[in-house]
Amino acid sequence: MGAKQLLTVAILLAACGSAIAADPGKLTIQVDKPGAAISPTLYGLMTEEINYSYDGGLYGELVQNRIFQNVPPAPRGGRGGRGRGAAAAPASAPAPTPASAPARPIGSLAHWSVYTSGGGAGTLALDQEQPVNSGALKTEVRLDITAAGGQTGLANDGFWGIPVHPDSQYRANFYARSGNGFSGPLTVAIVGNDGTIYASAKVDSVGQQWQHHTVTLKTGKVAPTADAKFVLSGGSKGSLWFNLVSLFPPTFHGRVNGFRPDLMQLLDNMHPAFLRFPGGNYVEGQDFANRFNWKETIGDYSQRPGHESPWRYRSSDGMGLLEFLEWCEDLKMEPVLAVYAGYNLDRTSVPAEDYPRYAQEAVEEIEYVMGDKSTRWGAQRAKDGHPEPFKLHYVEIGNEDNLGAGMGTYDARFAVFAQAIRAKYPQLELISSAGDRPLKTVQPDLQDEHHYPSSVGASLALANSFDKRPRTGPKVFVGEWATRIGNPTPQFSAAMADAAFMCGIERNADLVKMFCYAPLLVNVSDLADRQNGSMQWPSDMIGYNALTSFGSPAYYVEKMFYTHKGDRVLPIVELTPQTPGGALPGTNQDLPPLYSAASRDDKTGDVILKVVNTREGAQQMTLSFAGASTIRKDAIGEILSGPADAVNTIADPLHCVPQKLEIHDAAPSFVHEFPGMSVSVIRFKTR
Ligand code: AHR
Repeated sequence: MGAKQLLTVAILLAACGSAIAADPGKLTIQVDKPGAAISPTLYGLMTEEINYSYDGGLYGELVQNRIFQNVPPAPRGGRGGRGRGAAAAPASAPAPTPASAPARPIGSLAHWSVYTSGGGAGTLALDQEQPVNSGALKTEVRLDITAAGGQTGLANDGFWGIPVHPDSQYRANFYARSGNGFSGPLTVAIVGNDGTIYASAKVDSVGQQWQHHTVTLKTGKVAPTADAKFVLSGGSKGSLWFNLVSLFPPTFHGRVNGFRPDLMQLLDNMHPAFLRFPGGNYVEGQDFANRFNWKETIGDYSQRPGHESPWRYRSSDGMGLLEFLEWCEDLKMEPVLAVYAGYNLDRTSVPAEDYPRYAQEAVEEIEYVMGDKSTRWGAQRAKDGHPEPFKLHYVEIGNEDNLGAGMGTYDARFAVFAQAIRAKYPQLELISSAGDRPLKTVQPDLQDEHHYPSSVGASLALANSFDKRPRTGPKVFVGEWATRIGNPTPQFSAAMADAAFMCGIERNADLVKMFCYAPLLVNVSDLADRQNGSMQWPSDMIGYNALTSFGSPAYYVEKMFYTHKGDRVLPIVELTPQTPGGALPGTNQDLPPLYSAASRDDKTGDVILKVVNTREGAQQMTLSFAGASTIRKDAIGEILSGPADAVNTIADPLHCVPQKLEIHDAAPSFVHEFPGMSVSVIRFKTR
């Protein structure tokens, strides 16, 4: 240890020592006078197609560019025309594609290459000679095999590799036809980049007309790897055409077109109450043509053309409206449906005379979600495989309409959408996407506020902000929150600051009805290139590559809060923290050193106490439970602590995770020490 480090330790010890020597601080909970009910849907998830969240993430598909439409997006300046804090520009009608704009290519071979082994040879090209259908599958790939004997095929490199799991069953499916004398079987295989065949099956013959084939591939006792590709190959000379080439690993609950199990399990472990989808910017789209046009995301996926996500890559829309709802169903979450509200990130709004048309689209979307089979769109949902309506209580109109030029038209757009929705579904609660900007005409039930502080200090400055907020406006939905320190996923200090903010949310449960972190997911495979890599937005809750995943410290903090959500606020009537030294860089000594919230679990009678000590020094606190007839001496909970820069990674996924917390001397009034830089959630038994 160098002299500088020794000095730091000495200062820290002095700081801790003085804190411990001082009188304990005081935290008193009024147990017998519960305050507001805490919303059963306080804690949920927010999601959109960003950072390869679905394609290359939660959506199980392993083939990238399965319908050969991943054409690189046209260049544009920065992240669209809006951006946080961008000046308002006049809104206008959606711009038609200028006549001078270069024609879009018919498709792309991105992520596809020629595969040969044992002397095979051939070429790949795109063509539109004989489309599978006139909608999404207009462009197919043509494989010309020019040498017999070996194997020649097309290979897909997946989303940064094709994951090979041991003893697993994969479902491959594709359209194929043959010509120019091709004869013999087609081999479908998962092949290592070193040539190892991990799984393989044969289709005996391929006819000259399009046919849909489904093949099962089974791996054996192999070591997991993602250094592999998916290959379709033949051994005879001739031609083969393919479209919609798909490969799914085992999915969560075995759903066809389903979801990646490890990610679903991480999310399920949080017990989220709702899912806000499909955005975020993704609902608005970079431009009108690329908005979340829900009708193009339903039905058989051979009918889904996909579209460009505002985050500069193409979405297959395999994760469509019904899949979002099934995700909700699988994890017992309520959908919080964000509808396209006539405004795009390029600052264009649809013309005012068209507001009713898009409001009607939103009403139809709601009918698809919650209408019974006798309704037009409920019947469509039944046809798509889900006869039972979904429960829906919340609809958000647009996204971040307080930014860019959105506010210029939002009042008028919100009014038209709200009136149309309320006329048919008066029971729904409508959410404004304009942050805390008040609306002038029609009022929302809730307003969605987004906060992305980039330092602990900035987060802590917001942590107590709801305590002072007047109760005269709509209820609050914090629809996007993250303390953005850490790349690709947040470090411990960010999680600790999140926890301080969430304490403020719980204390103000009469006002704040919902909260979720954003973004939820990030593929960490290629972080170097922000434009074309796997991440567009750093500081995301859960990271993964093709093979494995991990929760960040922020994930674990949210999980602690979500799984220990009380039913009623218990007022903290006295809070006098100790003031140890060690305020983190980016904060200052004037910010409170300790944040807390208390609640009651109605079923068990437990008092749930959450305490965040943001200082490096420990804080001893006298915890008192005013009005409690019994506090049992044994209390349990969880504690997350760490150095500020502690992170979890693919290589070390459990580096910073909560530890069990046990107290054996709890009493109606007793002293407990909260370690420096820690988040504690403790359940005290009152029965
Ligand atoms: O969460 C990332 C982006 O941040 C969302 O798409 C948008 O709503 C916000 O600006």
